[in-house]
Amino acid sequence: MTPQLRIAPSILSADFAALAAAIDLVAPETDLLHVDVMDGHFVPNLTIGPPVVAAINRHTELTLDCHLMMTNPGEFLEAFRRAGADWISVHVEVGGTAELIDEMRKLGVNPGLAINPETPFDAVAPWLGRVDHVLVMTVHPGFGGQHFMVEVLPKLRQVAEAVAAGGHRTIVEVDGGIDPDTIGLAAEAGATCFVAGSAVFGARDPAAAVRRLRERAGAPEEAR
Ligand code: DX5
Ligand code: ZN
Repeated sequence: MTPQLRIAPSILSADFAALAAAIDLVAPETDLLHVDVMDGHFVPNLTIGPPVVAAINRHTELTLDCHLMMTNPGEFLEAFRRAGADWISVHVEVGGTAELIDEMRKLGVNPGLAINPETPFDAVAPWLGRVDHVLVMTVHPGFGGQHFMVEVLPKLRQVAEAVAAGGHRTIVEVDGGIDPDTIGLAAEAGATCFVAGSAVFGARDPAAAVRRLRERAGAPEEAR
């Protein structure tokens, strides 16, 4: 069975003063919207918090995929849930993973675990069957528009193979530097869900950019 391919546009590269218009452009092409939350500690940048997520949630039916690049995500899970987060990813590097997953389940969000480029596969291996998605970073988190790190591909493949071998339904999501040239590499390594910021919102026609990414993800042979 061919797995469903999802494209999650990341609003990090959208015009924050015109978020609603940006979301409306991609909504016909996808069902998932990636929201990057940065705390100025875990990553050297600050972005948005629960009030903005709530405003987005009032505006759109899209599933909100909130990526918490935070040192203390546990203190904010409930606030993000109340704001309308549907999926939440916390980073494995911050620790307390068992409690964070339990708390996300209790709150009724789809729990996810994110892993930085330099963090080894072993860090996420024990949790693959307990989360709904694994978010494999292919850039150092903190900023949009960086280059895809090909050196992460072996780990991405390891994650995808371990998910399959374990019979898990965990979604393998990839984040960072995804564009029409790199998406095929990530798909071939086993990712089925692709976050894309600058490749979507930096394009003249964001909807066409999502369609193009979806085509290229489904045709990795041609993408080479
Ligand atoms: C980076 C964020 C990404 C970012 C991706 O810290 O987690 O989600 O928006 O942006 P691009 O697709 O431009 O690399
Ligand atoms: Zn992200």
